[in-house]
Amino acid sequence: MVFYQRWQSETIKNALKTRRVALLNGPRQCGKTTLAKQLVSIIDEIQRVPSLLVAIKKSVDEDKRPGQYLLTESANIQSLPSVQESLAGRITKIRLKTLSQGEIQGSQPIFLEHAFNQDFHYAYKPTTQQDIIQMAAGGGFPEAIQLHGRDRKKWHQDYVEALLERDLKDIAHIQKHDVMNRLVGILAAWSSK
Ligand SMILES: Nc1ncnc2c1ncn2[C@@H]1O[C@H](COP(=O)(O)OP(=O)(O)OP(=O)(O)O)[C@@H](O)[C@H]1O
Ligand SMILES: [Mg+2]
Repeated sequence: MVFYQRWQSETIKNALKTRRVALLNGPRQCGKTTLAKQLVSIIDEIQRVPSLLVAIKKSVDEDKRPGQYLLTESANIQSLPSVQESLAGRITKIRLKTLSQGEIQGSQPIFLEHAFNQDFHYAYKPTTQQDIIQMAAGGGFPEAIQLHGRDRKKWHQDYVEALLERDLKDIAHIQKHDVMNRLVGILAAWSSK
């Protein structure tokens, strides 16, 4: 099993040096829990226990030291009670995305630094068209990129199904699941144009 180093680790560490609470938010299965656990002990999936927010608020209002809580939240679906609103002024939000190509290849995030010095040789890596298609189609979910062919396709199908079955149910009463599934397919095709 490959382990990918996440570029956001430093951002989280720095946030916890100055802020009382940090919230790691992002799509399901992008690696939030794994990354957060590497850094500190955390409260996972805060959106499932909104009542905890009141306790956290009370606690960080009494003790104002930075770096007290790291929370994770899956935010594919945005209309759950907002953690950020409840803890306004005390919290900073960090959005974790799926793995970037740089993270997958194990390189360092140095492009901008070099670009400002007009040094562009880091930007170009000779790659065949086939490689680029493979990268684009593979996406960046840590589990999925380690699968191939049909297995990877099935992983993505299961992912969409789980979102519609579980997360969407939390906020909406949808009866026509097959139609939702098709709608997601159409939206994905449009967004990739
Ligand atoms: N940096 C990484 N390198 C390799 N595998 C990873 C990495 N981060 C996460 N994974 C794997 O990806 C899967 C999802 O990770 P994780 O549970 O941390 O995601 P999550 O964002 O917390 O998901 P959820 O929103 O469903 O709780 C796990 O199987 C985990 O082992
Ligand atoms: Mg998680």
